Amino acid sequence: MNSDNPIYILGIESSCDDTSAAVLHNDKILANIVAGQEVHRLYGGVVPELASRAHQQHIVPVVDKALKQAGIKPGDLHGIAYTQGPGLLGSLLVGSSFAKSLGLALGIPVFPIHHLKAHVLAHFIADPDMSPPPFPFICLTVSGGHTQLLKVADHNTFEILGETTDDAAGEAFDKAAKILGLPYPGGPEIDKLAQNGDPKKFTFSKPKVPGLDFSFSGLKTGFRNFVEKNQRSDPEFIRENINDLCASLQHTIIEMLMEQLVVASTQTGIRHIALAGGVSANSSLRKILQATAREKDWVTYIPPLQYCTDNGAMIAIAGWFAYQDSSAGKSSDAARARWAINE
Ligand code: KG4
Ligand code: ZN
Repeated sequence: MNSDNPIYILGIESSCDDTSAAVLHNDKILANIVAGQEVHRLYGGVVPELASRAHQQHIVPVVDKALKQAGIKPGDLHGIAYTQGPGLLGSLLVGSSFAKSLGLALGIPVFPIHHLKAHVLAHFIADPDMSPPPFPFICLTVSGGHTQLLKVADHNTFEILGETTDDAAGEAFDKAAKILGLPYPGGPEIDKLAQNGDPKKFTFSKPKVPGLDFSFSGLKTGFRNFVEKNQRSDPEFIRENINDLCASLQHTIIEMLMEQLVVASTQTGIRHIALAGGVSANSSLRKILQATAREKDWVTYIPPLQYCTDNGAMIAIAGWFAYQDSSAGKSSDAARARWAINE
């Protein structure tokens, strides 16, 4: 997608624990800067108040760095996209207040963006390492805060086929990692250790969930009970079995995701399957998705990692679509901690 007049959009993401800013030139990324927050590692999870304070510290340098890397000045921007929700309210307020103030100062439109739509729209960033899926496609969004199975009919039409009724898939990784004494975020740690483990060594029961929904909280409780029971008879149980525990837990989570994905594809007849969200970084999920794709004749779409985890680029591309739809927001738009994608 190209325009004769170059359009520059700044995208700002601050819904959880990453402060990110990206600059888009039409649909191409010129800069995508992410500042993570190490402070949460001490607590084994995101502490909302600390996240909000860290966003305040990061937002100006991150935006400044993105503009410098893109080689443009604030006055060159045509619009600013920011995450309006869903997410942690204090974190959202930092990005949304900053974006609206800068938009007002520069006299340019601001575009309030739905974080989960942006995860999906990241597939439309013009990048030689990926190609956009054709409509309609199915997107499995798996992150630390969300697990959703979507039918995407166009850039604006998202039908929820299924979603988690409790914990998100990333949360299941993070909470299991905490039980094993691994640092936060636990997903990458489990992924790494699982590579030397046996995914069939331990079996964890999977819940019966109606339709295409997911549930991960029972798995977390079952995992904790299993580990604690074994530790009572063998205090070194975790240390001696860490790789197998990680591989078996990861295997169960992936099976739960893949089972619903297969049903969703069969029911809708859609064979274009996309992944989004931080958990799509998981090496085993990627492998199993590719193997299933060969078996089922699917075409799969997995963006490069920097567009899967929380990032400003996905907000900026959603802003690029909003810019073309002339759907600018208002300064009175409030940050929304809760917000359904089909609302
Ligand atoms: O999309 P994201 O960056 O932030 C949210 O919107 O939540 O996703 C972060 C989540 C965390 O739960 C993290 O543990 C998980 O993605 N994650 C992984 C991997 N890399 C990140 N989970 C499993 N395997 C990975 N390699
Ligand atoms: Zn996210």
